[in-house]
Amino acid sequence: MMLRFAVVVSVLLLAGVGHTEDTGARLLASKNILNQWLVEGKDLTVAYNIYNVGSSAALNVQLKDDTFPEPDFQTVQGKNLVTWDRIAPGSNVSHTLIVRPQQAGFFNFTAATVSYIPQEGAPTQVGYTSAPGEGGIMALRDFDRKFSPHYMDWAAFAVMTLPSIGIPFMLWYRSKSRYEQAVEKKSKKH
Ligand SMILES: *[C@@H]1O[C@H](CO)[C@@H](O)[C@H](O)[C@H]1NC(C)=O
Ligand SMILES: *[C@@H]1O[C@H](CO)[C@@H](O)[C@H](O)[C@H]1NC(C)=O
Repeated sequence: MMLRFAVVVSVLLLAGVGHTEDTGARLLASKNILNQWLVEGKDLTVAYNIYNVGSSAALNVQLKDDTFPEPDFQTVQGKNLVTWDRIAPGSNVSHTLIVRPQQAGFFNFTAATVSYIPQEGAPTQVGYTSAPGEGGIMALRDFDRKFSPHYMDWAAFAVMTLPSIGIPFMLWYRSKSRYEQAVEKKSKKH
């Protein structure tokens, strides 16, 4: 019983090895947003990397990203469709796209598409990059308020110093008027 089980397992493993050898090129593709803050009207950098972890070169590689629709995003630099004739096994290619979000709010950054021919004569394979996921795009006005150092600092300074300037002034003003009243009373008495 044990022996037969062992034989079955080893046959499956062999089939697995044979299968991966047949696939030729195998691409792992990532898509990352490089900015820490996503802000309406400001450059947003998208980096793509494609890594061929397979055993042969990938041919006719095409990276296509239709996930930045035109009215909501303006393309500043880079293309949403890039092609490479060939990516050698064990090597990487990368691409950078810069877009400007035109609206604040949440946006779901989804995967781009990668298509390629894994080896000579094989049919085209279609895969996807990783997806950065949902991100909040800040309104420009909120971003300025948060990061304009002087505006924030002066506002905070005014709030914090109001009591320390205001209270002594009130005390001084009150004692001054009391003193003046006292002086007036005294002078009336005399
Ligand atoms: C290709 O990229 C992968 C993942 O980013 C990295 O681990 C690998 O070292 C890179 N290989 C080369 C040859 O640059
Ligand atoms: C974002 O889009 C992906 C793919 O369409 C989906 O699986 C995921 O649930 C979405 N995330 C949110 C937060 O809507």
